[in-house]
Amino acid sequence: MAPKETLTITDNRTGKTYEIPITHGAIRALDLRQIKVSEDDFGLMTYDPAFMNTAYCQSRITFIDGEKGILWYRGYPIEQLAEKSTYLETAYLLLHGELPTRSQYEEFVYIITHHTMVHENIRKFMDGFRYDAHPMGMLLGTVGALSTFYPEAKNIFDPKIREIQIHRLIAKIPTIAAFAYRHGIGMPYSYPDNDLSYTGNFLNMMFKMTELKYRPNPVLERALDVLFILHADHEQNCSTNAMRTVGSSHVDPYSAVAAAIAALYGPLHGGANEEVLKMLTQIGSKNRVPEFIKLVKAGESRLMGFGHRVYKSYDPRAKIIKKIADEVFEVTGRNPLLDIALELERIALEDDYFVTRKLYPNVDFYSGIIYQAMGFPVDMFPVLFAIARTVGWLAQWEEMLLDKEQKISRPRQIYIGPQKRDYVPIAARS
Ligand code: ACO
Repeated sequence: MAPKETLTITDNRTGKTYEIPITHGAIRALDLRQIKVSEDDFGLMTYDPAFMNTAYCQSRITFIDGEKGILWYRGYPIEQLAEKSTYLETAYLLLHGELPTRSQYEEFVYIITHHTMVHENIRKFMDGFRYDAHPMGMLLGTVGALSTFYPEAKNIFDPKIREIQIHRLIAKIPTIAAFAYRHGIGMPYSYPDNDLSYTGNFLNMMFKMTELKYRPNPVLERALDVLFILHADHEQNCSTNAMRTVGSSHVDPYSAVAAAIAALYGPLHGGANEEVLKMLTQIGSKNRVPEFIKLVKAGESRLMGFGHRVYKSYDPRAKIIKKIADEVFEVTGRNPLLDIALELERIALEDDYFVTRKLYPNVDFYSGIIYQAMGFPVDMFPVLFAIARTVGWLAQWEEMLLDKEQKISRPRQIYIGPQKRDYVPIAARS
């Protein structure tokens, strides 16, 4: 007889037994609610700070096996996409679930290319930021402001309107990102060039000087495209959770993407590659690596770019990035920080502290070194991550909206504060 896909629970408080179905390796938290000690008992809940073992959605977009180091988008292994696809083709795949036909692809590229301009008032809005504003803060604020330019975006259940906002966001975020950079260095903004690819145009908006036509280096253009593919989605990470949670209130997608950008800004998430560069610069030379590792093991520092909530083996994206590094350095010259990074990795992977905790390099360990060699300043690193991840956020947002089981996201809590007590007037307080 085939084993039953159920879980039998005995509540030792009451002696009662319950049989709960198991689907896709999970039980429904709400099935526990029937487990009560009395009629007026609220029912059993699960307590899971930081969602360590809670699936809060079903998804068809991205699959990760953290133990085996596997990452698929819509079933396609990341290694194949990084080698054979383009960022916009991958974006189409994430959004639509299938790779596009040639005509679908050409149409998608055309649409994204022709939505890259931003309203001139957005440019003026960005002028208002201080000269030294962090570009990620500028991106966050400006994407939020975009919602005021497209009030129809609130109609999130109209598929056509949703599609237009998705196209606008994918197309305009690189423009805003590049404007944020140019604002910081006091350069005039460089407007989009429709003859160029998605990443070629982004390089144009970042780095064009007085030349009439910017011609991106094809190796760097492709490397950036691959880096964008690697960052395009990563299932239920912190910023995607922010996107889904904020989006579950049915706010417009610009506001939800602004929330996702805010989540990505943190040093434990998208800010990590910026932190990696700072760490490598602080270490300064290869021979100081053992000293730094000691500090990490003593709990006085963290090895940034190492460790991951899901990957407990080598992050497959980090492997691909290491290869890209060689191609990029052929063009740009070797980034001296690479030697420090390689030494850190070598020592960490032999050290018991990291081995027992299954801490391996993640996507951010090498990406910063490449970005820096390509000419991106450190504070643009999380912005690059945000550009690439926008499509993932949007695909996840749309999946959440169309999922009949989803409602406004609202967790429970376990209250451990004081019980009811009476207000004491200020004069009577000791
Ligand atoms: N350096 C040193 N020790 C670490 C590191 C690290 N980078 N990461 C985890 N540990 C240790 C913890 O101190 C803990 O040790 P303990 O059991 O003795 O207390 C153990 O490994 C488990 O770590 P947690 O913090 O519980 O793991 P969690 O899943 O919560 O954290 C995270 C994952 C946030 C990514 C963490 O590994 C980290 O801070 N890494 C550095 C920041 C980073 O690179 N972030 C990028 C993540 S990838 C991304 O967002 C694209």
